[in-house]
Amino acid sequence: MNILVIHGPNLHLLGRRSPEIYGSQTLPQLNAAIKGRAGKLGFKTRIFQSNSEGGIIDLLTANAGWADALVINPAAYTHYSYAIRDAIEALGLPAVEVHLSDISKREPFRRVSVIKPVCLAQLKGGGAGSYLKALDYCASIKLK
Ligand code: DQA
Repeated sequence: MNILVIHGPNLHLLGRRSPEIYGSQTLPQLNAAIKGRAGKLGFKTRIFQSNSEGGIIDLLTANAGWADALVINPAAYTHYSYAIRDAIEALGLPAVEVHLSDISKREPFRRVSVIKPVCLAQLKGGGAGSYLKALDYCASIKLK
């Protein structure tokens, strides 16, 4: 299975961004963990980070033909990007939404996800483990 992993805005700052919320792991370390789990599951991955809404939509479009499933942390776009929501729906990619923190227990604006309705699952609050669980989830639903 080919898994497209997309990290949204400000996730390039992992390690120094609010470590009490997001942990001390850097994005390269997180990506290494994702690749490790994906390798064990026999998955190929393409992993990207983008700070822009259009950039994320372009990445989704460019990789939709290759990917069997999408694991996406839309970061702050989670809470208001109808454009990313529509792109996931339009491309028809089976998607799993992930968050390092538990957005349901944070500020009211973070408790809303406009992305969730177009995803098969939302995994949150587990740090890097949220991404690893998303990969396990992709394996369990046997999309391909
Ligand atoms: C986040 C939660 C979002 O509210 C926030 O804007 C992020 C990261 C998370 O992984 O916990 O950038 O998606």
